[in-house]
Amino acid sequence: MHREVDLSLARRLKIEVTPSARSRSDFATDVLEGLSAKPKRLSCKYFYDERGSELFEDICNLPEYYLTRTEQAILELFAPEMARYSNGNMTLVELGSGSSLKTRLLIEALLAAQGSLHYLPVDISESMMVEVAKELIEEYADLHITAYVAEYNEGLRKIAEEGLGQKMVLFLGSNIGNFDFHETVDFLRNVRRQLSSDDVVLLGADMQKDLSVLEAAYNDSKNVTAEFNLNLLRRINRDLGGEFDLNSFSHVALYNVRECRIEMYLRSERDQEVHIRELDKTFHFKDGETIHTENSYKYSKEQIVELCSQSGFDVARSWEDEKGYFSLNLLTPA
Ligand code: AVI
Repeated sequence: MHREVDLSLARRLKIEVTPSARSRSDFATDVLEGLSAKPKRLSCKYFYDERGSELFEDICNLPEYYLTRTEQAILELFAPEMARYSNGNMTLVELGSGSSLKTRLLIEALLAAQGSLHYLPVDISESMMVEVAKELIEEYADLHITAYVAEYNEGLRKIAEEGLGQKMVLFLGSNIGNFDFHETVDFLRNVRRQLSSDDVVLLGADMQKDLSVLEAAYNDSKNVTAEFNLNLLRRINRDLGGEFDLNSFSHVALYNVRECRIEMYLRSERDQEVHIRELDKTFHFKDGETIHTENSYKYSKEQIVELCSQSGFDVARSWEDEKGYFSLNLLTPA
């Protein structure tokens, strides 16, 4: 009996792990390049190993981190309205799906509108993807999932090869915030190239607001964001034989008003040398020297329209919360 149930679940779930998702050599190359640069930097895409993905989930539940619950509240109110863009057989694609918690609201709205749904999440964290995909399949009997453990662009390419009908592509949680303007335009243009004229994109964006609200969201009182930031050094220690002493680096997050972005750094608390075995290299850190680990851009409505028009999209609809903290934007090919 159990076996029959398992088989029926398995028929509705396919998981593909792309080679790049497992590549360790990219990490080594990027760490070498980033720590040799002046000023030093590391890419925020490396935050998300298993521990980093868990820490990010904890961040999403912090009282100071208003982004997730605000986006969730907008979806709770408007997901049925968003599902009206379906022509009756829409496929749901999600880039950077994570825990898919907020996505459930759209899954339910589209299931109600269509009766069944094919969901294609793309995420770099394999452990989380497998766990979440299994949970969703068990919970929704009329859901089919094809999951890609991949980076965004590779996942998109794979999805385009599937030759699906109408699609809604989700890019939620202010994930665009971690790209700079030109990277976002390149990314959205690439998305546009893979879409047909009746497809739509649902884009989450964190809006510009009071500096104290922004800085509190990235300097939480439980230090979860600090742990998340420092986990990057832990990952270098584990995967590349690094010798970072995590107690001699600290977390810094501040809002750059001119650039409209939160900037995150790891700051060396003393003069120190750090050897990384797999790179066969020792890096020197001065007291107070920083490694730039993340930017998180905050948008105005005008910037969102500008970004979309440069990428070949129109903003057909926008939904916001009462305070205007966060917006969900429905883009259609221009
Ligand atoms: C994933 N991304 C949208 C988060 C953000 O807010 O920029 C990552 C994050 N960094 C620190 N806290 C959360």
